[in-house]
Amino acid sequence: MLSSREIRGSFIEFFKQHGHTFVPSWPVVPIGDETLLFTNAGMNQFKDIFLGHSQPQWKRAANSQKCIRVSGKHNDLEEVGLDTYHHTFFEMLGNWSFGDYFKAESIEWAWKLLTEVYGIDSNRLWATVFGGDKQDKSTPDSEAAELWAKLTPLPKEKILACGRKDNFWEMGNTGPCGPCSEIHIDLGPDRCDMKHIPGHICKVNGGCSRFMELWNLVFIQFNRKTDGTLERLRANYVDTGAGLERFCSVLQKKTSNYDTDLFMPIISAAQDLTGKKYTSQLGNKTDNAFRVIADHIRTLTFAITDGVSPSNDGRGYVIRRLLRRAARFGRTLGVHEPFMYKLMPVVASEMGDAFPELKGRAEFVGQVIQSEETSFGRTLDRGLELFSVAADKAEKTTGKIISGDDAFQLYDTFGFPLDLTELMARERGLKVDTDVFMKLMDQQRERARAAQKSVSLTAGLSNVQLPATDDAAKYETLVCRAKVVGWVTQEGFVQEGSFEDTNKIAAVILDKTCFYAESGGQTGDIGHITGDGWEFIVENTEKAGNCVLHKGRLHTGCLNIGDMAELSVSKDRRASMKNHTATHLLQWALQKTLGDSVKQQGSSVCPDYLRFDFTWPKALTKEQLTQVQKLVNEKIAAAETVTHVTLPIEQAKKLGAMALFGEKYGDTVRVIAAGASDKDHLNDAFSKEFCGGTHVSNTSEIGGFAVLKEESVSAGVRRITGLTGPKLIEHLLGRSDIVDELVGALKVPADQITIRVNKILEDNKSLAKQLKSGATAAAAAQVSADDLLAKSQKIGAIAVIAEQIPPVGQDQARGLIDSLRAKAGSVVVVLAMAESDDKVMLFAGVTDDLIKKVSSGDIVKSIAPIVGGGGGGRPQFAQAGGKDPSKIADALDAAKKFISGKLG
Ligand code: ALA
Repeated sequence: MLSSREIRGSFIEFFKQHGHTFVPSWPVVPIGDETLLFTNAGMNQFKDIFLGHSQPQWKRAANSQKCIRVSGKHNDLEEVGLDTYHHTFFEMLGNWSFGDYFKAESIEWAWKLLTEVYGIDSNRLWATVFGGDKQDKSTPDSEAAELWAKLTPLPKEKILACGRKDNFWEMGNTGPCGPCSEIHIDLGPDRCDMKHIPGHICKVNGGCSRFMELWNLVFIQFNRKTDGTLERLRANYVDTGAGLERFCSVLQKKTSNYDTDLFMPIISAAQDLTGKKYTSQLGNKTDNAFRVIADHIRTLTFAITDGVSPSNDGRGYVIRRLLRRAARFGRTLGVHEPFMYKLMPVVASEMGDAFPELKGRAEFVGQVIQSEETSFGRTLDRGLELFSVAADKAEKTTGKIISGDDAFQLYDTFGFPLDLTELMARERGLKVDTDVFMKLMDQQRERARAAQKSVSLTAGLSNVQLPATDDAAKYETLVCRAKVVGWVTQEGFVQEGSFEDTNKIAAVILDKTCFYAESGGQTGDIGHITGDGWEFIVENTEKAGNCVLHKGRLHTGCLNIGDMAELSVSKDRRASMKNHTATHLLQWALQKTLGDSVKQQGSSVCPDYLRFDFTWPKALTKEQLTQVQKLVNEKIAAAETVTHVTLPIEQAKKLGAMALFGEKYGDTVRVIAAGASDKDHLNDAFSKEFCGGTHVSNTSEIGGFAVLKEESVSAGVRRITGLTGPKLIEHLLGRSDIVDELVGALKVPADQITIRVNKILEDNKSLAKQLKSGATAAAAAQVSADDLLAKSQKIGAIAVIAEQIPPVGQDQARGLIDSLRAKAGSVVVVLAMAESDDKVMLFAGVTDDLIKKVSSGDIVKSIAPIVGGGGGGRPQFAQAGGKDPSKIADALDAAKKFISGKLG
């Protein structure tokens, strides 16, 4: 039997033999494509080629692409676990032609691979082609139909023409698309899951699970534009996709994808963890939970490896939702502890050969999953209780609907994503009022928006083509001359006339610039632009595509299109250059101290400080921090040259330059090297990074470095904030002033301050203790058993005492009760004392002759709730705590009533 590794391998091998290049899978986070949440098809990485925006390096390509489909056009989440073949993560095997072969070869090769290489019985296969669409007057793909008949032994009745829904493939609402041809397999009448539906007939695309789509061959010829129209592409392309999971189920003769060797190792690890058994049945809660968990851990592992971290929006929220759903299904299997992170290594080891990135980041991914599970685990059980109350309530309503308020509370307080609440509702035959939920969400968003208002000039510019700015000078100079070509205000982009409004925020666009626009963590430049009779103050510089926006306000005069202007960047702002180079030295020093598993996760380079986030599981020790600072300062003292070069990306990689994870790089990249004497000696450099930022030309210009703070940002990620040059000196001088003040106040030399302060703290502690026991003793002196007895009320021969006493300490209070019980022949005593603003103590005692009538325990039990507490004890003696001293008088009154009631 072929293993999944062999099935994947022979697919790629087959197409290599037919002239295809193996192009590694794209990350599941589409690089530089914000129209897609996740990579959802093999063709995503080739989209720009299809649209003619970039040239293909190959004529033919093949691979197995990591895909995630959870929302949007191809949404599978709701079905996952309930059937045998829906997944949020799957591998799409595919082959592509970029203006090379077309329909004939695609059909012929697909057929050959399935029937000859994999040995699938051709009698079980069917094909479909696009049958045209009357509504939009598109014509049937008769060419494909004829090719199937000519190139394969399929009889005509097994080549079916189908509609747009099944046989016109589109990537999303916009993008490359075209008619497609699918190959389906007949799994046999036993596999039909719709037998119970009267009149059901099994057929291809007929909805039942007897026929399964195996492979989709798309003949990409069009681009769907934002306005919905189709545009003919310059060439014909082939884009095919086949689910590896389905191939495995057919070739391994399993009735479910989950029973193949892609999932079983995970399921069997989950069985070991939970002690429950997977039986491969449908419609059973336990098996369903196993499937969901096995599916979700694959998605989580791949997504986090590729750079997604759980958060409250976008991709991060998808990941969070999946993990929370999985945690809830863990409860179904009786697990109340974090467990998903223990399944992650199974995914990494099973799939690590095909996707080596999994192995490199496994430790980090495990930490992220565990910490997310732990934090949701804290509210999950309480959320489940609230859900069950809400569901009970809903069961009594006519529509059997869980209220939007309850769903929102589950979301807001307990972290239940709406789809999780809906899923649990479905399990109980209930619905959720999503309209009200959405309204509450909107209101919350509105509140958040109102809290952070800022002016965005680019928000309304999505359809405007802004002119490109030549910004090469930013690396060389702080002043330059350029021509005004336009400006942007909140009303839009203007490229004619003049501008003279000194109140409005605007962004000036020039043909070239020496201003650095915010990117790669480095803040944008500030400065000024002056023309004939006008001055514009630049408050920030941003980039929109290739256009540099000098954002700020006109200070004086009136500027015109075509004006020549002098640009001048603030030198202070470019202190960021020191911090940027220092960030590179810091990364180098961290790797040298902690090892190569340190990877940059983000950075922020400002004029005043630098911030660097990196993967590392725990707080750095004092020694590690000292070592890191020592290394950086040594390199600063050594006055190493900092060189920048632009290289073809392959050459830069060969040089060992570090790239940022998940960043999209072009064919050529800029590399910053520290420690090489010049461009010809890059191998001598100790630090080499891909970087578009601005840097000092010699490390000595940094002028010193120190770590200000080291802290955690999220699971497995630490953050260092550091200072360089003048800011560092400023900071150190400030500290030194504080030391001087302390020397004056404590009257000790600077090196004795710590010892002195520790001594003062200790003294302080013991004084406080003495003070407290002195106060207790003083209070105790004020109360005596005799005084209390004198205040007693008599019921017959019985003395009843219910009094508040000063805070004498609990031992003292118990002593008072004892001596009263000894002194008075028959006594019932209740004492209350306020130990602090929110702590009350109640004590009760009863002499033995009376305990048949009234018990101390009962007294305390009945009055403790009045002071917000509870307690109890024996008939002779009992005590209780409470929270509300203001209710002491009420409690004592109640005690008196209770006692006289009992004593009759
Ligand atoms: N891009 C095609 C699909 O996703 C092959 O089905």
